[in-house]
Amino acid sequence: MNRTLAIIKPDAVAAGKAGKVLAHLEDAGFTVRAARMTRLNRAQAEAFYAVHRERPFFASLVSFMTSGPVIPFLLERDNAVLQLRETIGATDPAEAAEGTIRQRFAESKERNAIHASDSDENAAVEIGFFFSHHEILGL
Ligand code: CMP
Repeated sequence: MNRTLAIIKPDAVAAGKAGKVLAHLEDAGFTVRAARMTRLNRAQAEAFYAVHRERPFFASLVSFMTSGPVIPFLLERDNAVLQLRETIGATDPAEAAEGTIRQRFAESKERNAIHASDSDENAAVEIGFFFSHHEILGL
C-alpha cells in the first residue's frame, strides 16, 4: 500500500460532481485516509503549482484554482500514484480514455476536474501541503 494526493478542483465542486468523483475513486479501489474542503488563496496556489511558474498558463491556472472551493484527499492503495493517474486520465479531457474521471467530468485542459500527484516524491510533498500527521487516519 502507498499514498497519493488528489484534489477535486473548483470546476467539479461547483458543478456538484464532487460526490460522483469520490465514488469513482472508491470504486477504483482507493481508500480515503484524509480529506477536507478548503479554498486556496493566491500564495497557496502559486506555491502548490510552483513547478509550473514559467508556463504560459500559470496565471490562469492560479486564478482558476483560487476561484472556489477544492477538496484534497489523501488516497491509499497499491501502486497509488500510477493507479490514480490511470484512473483520472490525460490532462486534456479530449485525450482522456473512456471511463476516466477527466473524460467523464472535466470541462477543458485547465478546468479538468481533478489533480493527482505525478510521483511518490511529489505525493509526499503534496500530502504535507494539505495534511498534518494527526489528520491522516489509519484503519
Ligand atoms: P494538474 O494535473 O493539476 O497539473 C497542472 C495543471 O495545469 C493541469 O492539471 C491543468 O489544470 C493545467 N494545465 C496543464 N496544461 C495546460 C495548458 N496547456 N493550458 C491550460 N492549463 C493547463
